[in-house]
Amino acid sequence: MGRDVIIACDFPSKEKTVDFISHFKGYSPYFKIGMELFYAEGPQIVYEIKNRGYKVFLDLKLHDIPNTVKKAMASLSKLDVDICNLHAAGGSEMMKYALEGLTRADGSRPLLIAVTQLTSTSEERMRNELLIEKPLKEVVMSYAKTASDSGLDGVVCSPLEVPEVKAACGKSFLTVTPGIRFADGEVGDQVRITTPAKANELGSDYIVVGRPITAADDPLAKYIECIEQFVK
Ligand code: C5P
Repeated sequence: MGRDVIIACDFPSKEKTVDFISHFKGYSPYFKIGMELFYAEGPQIVYEIKNRGYKVFLDLKLHDIPNTVKKAMASLSKLDVDICNLHAAGGSEMMKYALEGLTRADGSRPLLIAVTQLTSTSEERMRNELLIEKPLKEVVMSYAKTASDSGLDGVVCSPLEVPEVKAACGKSFLTVTPGIRFADGEVGDQVRITTPAKANELGSDYIVVGRPITAADDPLAKYIECIEQFVK
């Protein structure tokens, strides 16, 4: 499986999204649909993008009892998305049920990846609010290993964590990495950032890029810059 750039369509409406993706005619970016857009527009937004021939990462981060997640994943699988995800914090049984729900009658299924700890969770918050005493990095690696042992295809993580995740879970375990910025670009609210070139060096399989492309005057030019730096 090759490396790819996933563009985060963090838009509030179908109109804005369709207008944005019209910049990419003749190219084949992956698009990420998150909660904001999916809750606003429903499954139809997935069809809008898939019908134009693009791949979709549906970033809904499921976390519930195993049976509920299994049934929800079966619904998402019918949408023919290419990647979907859940919170590893739901545990190995939930992850195994999720895989069962995703698997179609013919044995095919979307890729399933796990969120370990959100990048918005600090070690202090983990200790004081979640009562998790271990260092953040150890928790991330342990969650990644549980996801791998449960049969998942990969994790969402920081590009900086990729070498360790690959060492613990194997080279083919996918790493999908947000927190990407160009060397001369705005950082915004992201903290631990890397450039597309650095993410390549660190071994990411997919980079997730939002504002550096969506807020650019020329989104296609920025997308091409990402591809040139990341998919060499
Ligand atoms: O605009 P920006 O490039 O920061 O967008 C990054 C995208 O990746 C957003 O859709 C954000 O929700 C998502 N994401 C993230 N960090 C995570 C998981 C997802 O930034 N740990």
